[in-house]
Amino acid sequence: MIPLKRRKVSQTVNQPNQTCKFPHVSIFILERKMGSTRRAFLTRLGRSKGFLITDTYSSSITHVVSENNTGDDVQTWIDNQTGQESSSSVHLLGIIWFTESMEAGQPVPVEDRHILKVNPKQNVNDNTMLIKSYACQRRTPLKHHNSLLTEALELLAENAEYSDNEGRSVAFRRAASVLKALPYRVQTMDQLKCLPCLGEHSQRVIKEILEDGTSSEVESTRHSEQFQAMKALTGIFGVGVKTADRWFREGLRSPSDLICTGQQLNRAQQAGLQFYDDLNKHVTKAEADMISEIVKEAVSAVLPGAEIQLMGGFRRGKEVGHDVDFLITHPEEGREEGLMPKIINWLEGRNLLLYQKWTRNSYLEKLDGPARPANNMDRFERCFSIFKLDRPAEATGSEGVRSSDQSEASSWRAVRVDLVVSPYSQFAFATLGWTGSKLFERELRRWAGQEKRMSLSSHALYDSNQRCYVRVQSEEEIFAYLGLEFIPPCERNA
Ligand code: CTP
Ligand code: MN
Ligand code: MN
Repeated sequence: MIPLKRRKVSQTVNQPNQTCKFPHVSIFILERKMGSTRRAFLTRLGRSKGFLITDTYSSSITHVVSENNTGDDVQTWIDNQTGQESSSSVHLLGIIWFTESMEAGQPVPVEDRHILKVNPKQNVNDNTMLIKSYACQRRTPLKHHNSLLTEALELLAENAEYSDNEGRSVAFRRAASVLKALPYRVQTMDQLKCLPCLGEHSQRVIKEILEDGTSSEVESTRHSEQFQAMKALTGIFGVGVKTADRWFREGLRSPSDLICTGQQLNRAQQAGLQFYDDLNKHVTKAEADMISEIVKEAVSAVLPGAEIQLMGGFRRGKEVGHDVDFLITHPEEGREEGLMPKIINWLEGRNLLLYQKWTRNSYLEKLDGPARPANNMDRFERCFSIFKLDRPAEATGSEGVRSSDQSEASSWRAVRVDLVVSPYSQFAFATLGWTGSKLFERELRRWAGQEKRMSLSSHALYDSNQRCYVRVQSEEEIFAYLGLEFIPPCERNA
């Protein structure tokens, strides 16, 4: 309570013809949820009994009376009036205090049962209110304030993947993702107290980095023979963790070891090895735009009216990527069928493909049912490819000598490109599914399943409560149906 003597007691707002019997009790009646008529009635009643009731809120008020509001509602209303967080010096009272006082003909002493409870305020660093636990409930920008920490956690996530420990890998990725969503740089462990998804192990790593600048576990992992070899071997297009691990156990450490030992390689791996250097260089947005133009030309030549959209990291606003992803559809359902071989023919006819592997669409709602395949792979018609991209004239020559396989001329480079064709009716789901990030997608599916009893894939949304598929035209509708706030692509960088 503000000491009484500091309060200005104003009688001017009371009706001049009525005497104020209790000048130290200055009442404000909140109109919110009560309505102006009832408020006017209560004001007249109070004043007729000699109570001081003011029409506007000011710092001189001692008792705020409201009806059908929670203490938090009233406190928020007051904070908004004063433009600051008010001290808890004012009595926030239910209407019962007022009616009892009317009956008594004088202000009754304030008792606990009259008081509206206000929950303690979250302080600024206490982000439980701000940071929701599923990544798909949060906005995660591309640029954030905690790269040092997130890169460390993501290195441990990557290492866990190499050891085929998916649970551990996802745990590190979730922890990193929470830090990406924070609007400030973490400087003390205190700031993490109420954040979700930060397990004991992640906290230990963060603590070490905050105190020493680096984490010994992260650094020893980074420099370990296994991590480096697995990174180099899985960096070959067509080589997954299982194959790389087998090779590692056989003593292989790098792509050149594969050549020396004459390993049996499939077609993808051969291409991966041949274009290793190029494929491990970032693809720039400018290069993605050049490839966009080529794909657009190819698509409009073989199927006029088809629509094409840049997906993946570039749709989320990234400036570089490991590949370029496209989604293609046609507004007349069915016209998109068999499109991919035609696109491939067009590209191959112009010598633009260094490698391609095409798969047919194998999705059938009736047969596949609402359950998702275990690996979460979608069944669209698709093509994993490597493009031969001409370099603009001024960029060539300056690179020096290129490795033998790529030395044909430095007038071009190899770029990984993913092409996906979706029927129009599934386009919104495909768009959502191919925008990423991978963690964001994973969290969307987890949210749908665990919180909503729904099953989300890149083809469909099945609602187990209603036992039906949900038809939508846009990503916005999918978020809405899942009970999520819409997150634009540039804030899905979880
Ligand atoms: N995707 C998929 N099925 C695959 C491969 C990818 O559904 N077989 C989806 C991923 O879930 C992701 C998107 O396609 O949402 C893009 O994947 P990818 O190109 O691997 O990652 P990006 O986010 O684009 O990152 P980068 O910039 O490194 O390419
Ligand atoms: Mn990509
Ligand atoms: Mn891709």
